[in-house]
Amino acid sequence: MSDNLTIVDHPLIQHKLTILRDKTTSTAQFRQVIREVAFVLGCEVTQDLKLKEVEIETPIEKMTAPYLEGKKLCFVSILRAGNGLLDGLLDLIPSARVGHVGIYRDHETLEAHRYYFKTPDKLGERLVVLVDPMLATGNTAIDAANELKKAGAKAMKFLCLVAAPEGVEKFSAAHPDVPIITAALDRQLNDVGYIMPGLGDAGDRIYGTKG
Ligand code: URA
Repeated sequence: MSDNLTIVDHPLIQHKLTILRDKTTSTAQFRQVIREVAFVLGCEVTQDLKLKEVEIETPIEKMTAPYLEGKKLCFVSILRAGNGLLDGLLDLIPSARVGHVGIYRDHETLEAHRYYFKTPDKLGERLVVLVDPMLATGNTAIDAANELKKAGAKAMKFLCLVAAPEGVEKFSAAHPDVPIITAALDRQLNDVGYIMPGLGDAGDRIYGTKG
């Protein structure tokens, strides 16, 4: 599998992912747990942010302590399921800028169709974290990353919850410079482009729009 891929196998994430996969999990619990998982994944995706030393005073004495060099971060959510992860990421880093890419996939061809794109200025100065819970065929993520690069993004990571080998291969071939961070690498896609075993349609699970 791609050198670009990091699977975050922290026990808390794996436990929470099992709750998300379980079809009996309620919409309310799904939304809460995906937010919690995003918080932990956010620590992983930002682990190489640069620190500087600052002088502070604790109640006991003065010290030199690490502090983030700048808040140069932009989360970009692929609508609509990306917003489920976005909430947890913003809990972790409330000052991050946020972009949105609206893409739906044609149910017959599985191709990506973009209908919305809005990001902050000066993307090139930020670490751009593209967010979508499911990396399935890879078409949506590839299209979003293409647009972000056209808009100036240079340093980019792709964060998801569950990836399919087909999507990892295709995305890595299209964007070898963009690391993929995921909580799980599942078996394969089914014939309508869903990940097996997966967790179903992430957007429907987050928003309760099915069943
Ligand atoms: N999108 C989803 O929400 N789930 C999948 O399994 C694949 C794509």
